[in-house]
Amino acid sequence: MPSSKHQPGAPHHPQHPVSVHPGHEAPPSPPHAVAPVVEQRSSPLGHIAERAAAARTDNSMAKAALTVRDFNCWYSAFQALHGVSLDVPHNRVTALIGPSGCGKSTFLRWMNRMNDMIPGARCEGVMDLHGLDLLDPRLDAVDLRRRVGMVFQKPNPFPKSIYDNVAFGPRLHRRMSRADMDGVVELSLRRAALWDEVKDRLNKSALGLSGGQQQRLCIARAVAVDPEVVLMDEPASALDPRSTARIEDLIRELREKYTIIIVTHNMQQAARVSDITAFFFEGRLIETGPTAGIFMNPRQKQTEDYVTGRFG
Ligand SMILES: Nc1ncnc2c1ncn2[C@@H]1O[C@H](COP(=O)(O)OP(=O)(O)OP(=O)(O)O)[C@@H](O)[C@H]1O
Ligand SMILES: [Mg+2]
Repeated sequence: MPSSKHQPGAPHHPQHPVSVHPGHEAPPSPPHAVAPVVEQRSSPLGHIAERAAAARTDNSMAKAALTVRDFNCWYSAFQALHGVSLDVPHNRVTALIGPSGCGKSTFLRWMNRMNDMIPGARCEGVMDLHGLDLLDPRLDAVDLRRRVGMVFQKPNPFPKSIYDNVAFGPRLHRRMSRADMDGVVELSLRRAALWDEVKDRLNKSALGLSGGQQQRLCIARAVAVDPEVVLMDEPASALDPRSTARIEDLIRELREKYTIIIVTHNMQQAARVSDITAFFFEGRLIETGPTAGIFMNPRQKQTEDYVTGRFG
């Protein structure tokens, strides 16, 4: 169990501004400079993000489903995240972006207590899901994962039938008749846009599906327990472009019912699917806001450098 210093029931901290690295401003051009270099401040992906937002049915500001305040975490002596404060809006897609090693997966894994088994992993701060303290060491992991589901980079279906993969979570949580379970399995596979492809082979092994189908099966498995939040860590990075497009369509549809947090290295994907983007750098949340704004008009130099592809 992690040694969270958070006291259950303690009042939440007031909202802290996100940690910000001081920007590195470019020196002024010398007076004799002939051809001024026009700095590209915004990423062309801003237009993609604007178009994606215009296509969505509801872009209103949603209330926070998940509230993170002053979150710090360590692997033994190494501090992986520093003072992260973030509101994750309800039934919206939040993208976590940033260079490799900046702490995106670590952050996501704490939301689902996947770090509990790592020796030396500990944290402090507040992570609250509609009043549920996600960092409370007494929280039962099975209960938590009914409310917060996770989809990983590499599709990881169980070596069981397609049906049993989807029924696995619901069976853990409640007894139901075969007919009711059939209904849950069908609904979950429909939500994951996989039903039509597998309805005639539900008792066949999940391992016989293609990579893209396996990933949609993992999404069906995650939504089968009707969680509030679905965490996705680079869910399409191992897939071909066509399967990636299907997963992106699916994320847009799932947004109607679930709060989604997605880690992605694909900036186009962040622009296309997310409402909110949070940029991490070296264990700190540098900037967060509506996705089009992050790509069009970033406030921080590091965000700008990253979204315009200068590093990462
Ligand atoms: N189990 C672990 N034990 C020790 N250190 C770890 C462990 N997992 C991650 N780290 C370290 O924590 C930091 C953040 O890692 P994390 O995997 O969260 O980064 P990331 O942003 O997801 O990177 P990537 O984009 O490459 O997936 C890195 O310095 C990493 O080496
Ligand atoms: Mg990662």
